[in-house]
Amino acid sequence: MFTQFPLFRSHLDLAHQYWTILVRPGDTVIDATCGNGHDTLKLAQLALHSDQGQVIGIDLQEQSLLATNARLMEHLSPDLLRRVQLICSCHSSFPDIPPKSVRLIVYNLGYLPKGDKSRTTRAKTTIESLQAAFPLLMPGGVICVTCYPGHEEGEKEEKAVLDFVRGLDPHEWCCTYQQWMNRQKAPGLLLIQRQES
Ligand SMILES: C[S@@+](CC[C@H](N)C(=O)[O-])C[C@H]1O[C@@H](n2cnc3c(N)ncnc32)[C@H](O)[C@@H]1O
Repeated sequence: MFTQFPLFRSHLDLAHQYWTILVRPGDTVIDATCGNGHDTLKLAQLALHSDQGQVIGIDLQEQSLLATNARLMEHLSPDLLRRVQLICSCHSSFPDIPPKSVRLIVYNLGYLPKGDKSRTTRAKTTIESLQAAFPLLMPGGVICVTCYPGHEEGEKEEKAVLDFVRGLDPHEWCCTYQQWMNRQKAPGLLLIQRQES
């Protein structure tokens, strides 16, 4: 459908365009919902360079991490693969990462495509995760969240996340939400940027 609209092909393309502007080789980045690993691979291609950069991928489901690992093995050299850490856990907390060291943290909310729909992200743990993510972001760092209000839990989650983000201090955080206006319950792209200094 979106091939006739080259500026905005899909919300995922849009997200990747922002990541390409932001992320530099050598950065530390986090994929908080690995799923099938498409986003983890994109982040790895942007952040990893010879012996620099770090990608941390998190997902609740072993199945997602296996799919992500297979995708990364197919596309990355062993040297770069060593700089990716995949963690099977809920993203409501993060592993030991130095504060203010991460350029980009991404969430692609919802459930694994063609997977168990009950293993979907949920408002409570997503907001806990955002709270845990804030101290990790470096100045100018970004959290990028794709929301899917097309299913019941996703609609609740989108509302809760947007309500939470509306309350953030505008002197410290710049928040935008981009959504197709003429489609019912279209996915939306939330960006939260920490002030530069
Ligand atoms: C829409 S998929 C992500 C798609 C992925 N970004 C890709 O490129 O293929 C959402 C993923 O979030 C995971 N998930 C759900 N709840 C989670 C939680 N609390 N913590 C971490 N991952 C979670 C699911 O297991 C699922 O794999």
